[in-house]
Amino acid sequence: MATGGGFAHSVLPSLIYFSGIWALWALLACLAVTPLSQIGVWRSLVWVRRMLGVGALVYTLLHVVAYVAIRHADWATIACEIVGRWSIAWATLSTLGLCVLGLTSTDGAVRRIGGRRWKRLQRTVYVWSPLGLLHFLLSPLAVGPLPFTMFGCLLWLLAWRVLAATSRQSRRAHSIPALLGLSLVVAALTAVFEIVWLDWVHDLPPASIARANFELDLGLSATWSVLLIGVALTIWVRGRAPKARARSAHPMR
Ligand code: HEM
Repeated sequence: MATGGGFAHSVLPSLIYFSGIWALWALLACLAVTPLSQIGVWRSLVWVRRMLGVGALVYTLLHVVAYVAIRHADWATIACEIVGRWSIAWATLSTLGLCVLGLTSTDGAVRRIGGRRWKRLQRTVYVWSPLGLLHFLLSPLAVGPLPFTMFGCLLWLLAWRVLAATSRQSRRAHSIPALLGLSLVVAALTAVFEIVWLDWVHDLPPASIARANFELDLGLSATWSVLLIGVALTIWVRGRAPKARARSAHPMR
């Protein structure tokens, strides 16, 4: 029979790992809703955003509960970690921010706060998500492609918003060349970031990290994954464009 200590050392680390990863994926999916609904002319996606946001919060809370359990609810140790480890300090800030967004996600809260202020508050997700990712990047085992693939995805989603906000004709940010160009630039920045980060934080030689982009020993590298996701999205947009044009030209609309 598994003892309490056995449980803490076998199940809790996996729970911390998977809940953390899923919290981040849910946040990225949440941030992808606006570009997907605007680029892909797929309006029906917007209702999913609240569900994904709440999902990200639930995974984050599960992650924190597992963390408290693995530290045997020793609050003195936990407090020391929050103030003594940058990774945990950023994570705590990110968690508090996500809690505020979760608590204000009800219709009643929108009415009380007022639409404009509520939207401004929701935009703080652009701070809480990078902080969550920074926490992942700073974790001791974050040397594989996953944290950098997430970095590339987050960068793409934030850069697309800047592109959409700054392009004078808003549809330019939805065009095939813009999406391909964005994906290429973000993939290149992901490669540079991975090299600089792993050299700086883990003292890994830049040349071997750059070379790993052309080897499959560790699976597909972050750079190629980000580029493939961007190209797949562009192909998907191209496929949907004629249907969307036909829909908007329909006389019954
Ligand atoms: C008070 C809040 C949090 C605490 C105390 C916490 C604690 C931890 C700990 C102890 C680890 C194991 C690796 C390490 O020791 O650094 C970890 C890993 C991780 N956390 Fe958090 N976390 C918090 C919030 C978050 C949030 C908000 C996210 C994402 C939205 C997140 C995502 C992750 C991910 C992806 C990992 C990597 C898994 C691994 O490499 O083991 N965490 N967290």
